[in-house]
Amino acid sequence: MKILITGGTGYIGSHAAVELITAGHEVEILDNLCNSKRDVLGKIEEITGVEPKFYDVDLRDAEALERVFEESDFEAVMHFAGLKAVGESVEKPLEYYENNVGGTINLLECMEAYAVKKLVFSSSATVYGVQESPEYTEEMVTGLKISSPYGRTKAMIEEIIQDVAQSDPEFEATILRYFNPIGNHSSGLIGEDPNGTPNNLMPFITKVATGEIPVLAVFGNDFATSDGTCIRDYIHVVDLAKGHVIAMEQSTPGVKIYNLGSGKGTSVMEMVKLFSRVSGKNLPYKVVERRAGDLAEFYANPSKAERELGWKVELTVEDAMRDTLKYLQENEQ
Ligand code: NAD
Ligand code: UFG
Repeated sequence: MKILITGGTGYIGSHAAVELITAGHEVEILDNLCNSKRDVLGKIEEITGVEPKFYDVDLRDAEALERVFEESDFEAVMHFAGLKAVGESVEKPLEYYENNVGGTINLLECMEAYAVKKLVFSSSATVYGVQESPEYTEEMVTGLKISSPYGRTKAMIEEIIQDVAQSDPEFEATILRYFNPIGNHSSGLIGEDPNGTPNNLMPFITKVATGEIPVLAVFGNDFATSDGTCIRDYIHVVDLAKGHVIAMEQSTPGVKIYNLGSGKGTSVMEMVKLFSRVSGKNLPYKVVERRAGDLAEFYANPSKAERELGWKVELTVEDAMRDTLKYLQENEQ
């Protein structure tokens, strides 16, 4: 299949590109490089032997986007491009709505105009908002009590995709709700390399490990969990990327929604201890105030993806940490 990957030089998109090429698909990448670097393309080639064609295009630029669709005959689109910093979205909500929702509307318009009818979309567990149970299933009501404008862009885009599918019985969409992606390709060649300050736990742990940050700030240890720190479902990004390939290959008309997570929760303190064990070095940390909006605990019920797609995680949090260390080594040279 010939597939356009939006956001394909980014963290998850680049791993999806590798898995798609490895599975025999033809991949082209579109990205405006606002949070990734062009040299990722060469790294994808080093891993797979193929350098994907690249379009330096912003999804908000409708004319440039149309030229991409004119130039190529895609069968499918994997849509990763978007802004993802929760805190920043609170400060700049309009930027997030314009980029994520506006960009997606332009993309869906081009797909309609050029009769590209297969889509896989990067959604997030954040669309579940606050629920009574920490174990999230796809049947739960979404869109309520979402903690940030970023999260609301994901919920809105899910609704837009549902409406588009409703209007065209041939349209095929798979919405994948990710839990907490960590790790990188085992070669250490591609990984999470955000421009500017990171937002998530693993990149912060990485910065402490390299000495860029002296100590990890643990945001609160008075939550209602076994050790008082927040519990999340960390999923190796390669497992996540493989889930995309399977979802795309098994896509049928209509909208399907799947949680992609491991089903297992790990606390922040457990993450600190695991990283220290895997790296053989103590990771300095300090407990500080809670971060606004953090939920004590949530994790995926991933049984629908296993039942319907035959997908489940194969790698562990320790594997992800080992691969992160390899990525650090590769990037030191
Ligand atoms: P990332 O920032 O590494 O990748 C996103 C890419 O999109 C970047 O390369 C960026 O340059 C590009 N981009 C942003 N706006 C664009 C635009 N208007 N036009 C063209 N390119 C644009 O992030 P990621 O972690 O790889 O996330 C990929 C997707 O998965 C995002 O939609 C994100 O919201 C979603 N997601 C990520 C996580 C996570 O924890 N990483 C969790 C749930 C969902
Ligand atoms: N944490 C720390 N110190 C840090 C960074 C994070 O203690 O320096 C803690 C957080 O408080 C949280 C846990 O580590 O308890 C995980 O935090 P992340 O920021 O890595 O992940 P979140 O679960 O908070 O964020 C995820 C996704 C977002 C999504 C959000 C909302 O990354 O895309 O869930 O549910 F919007």
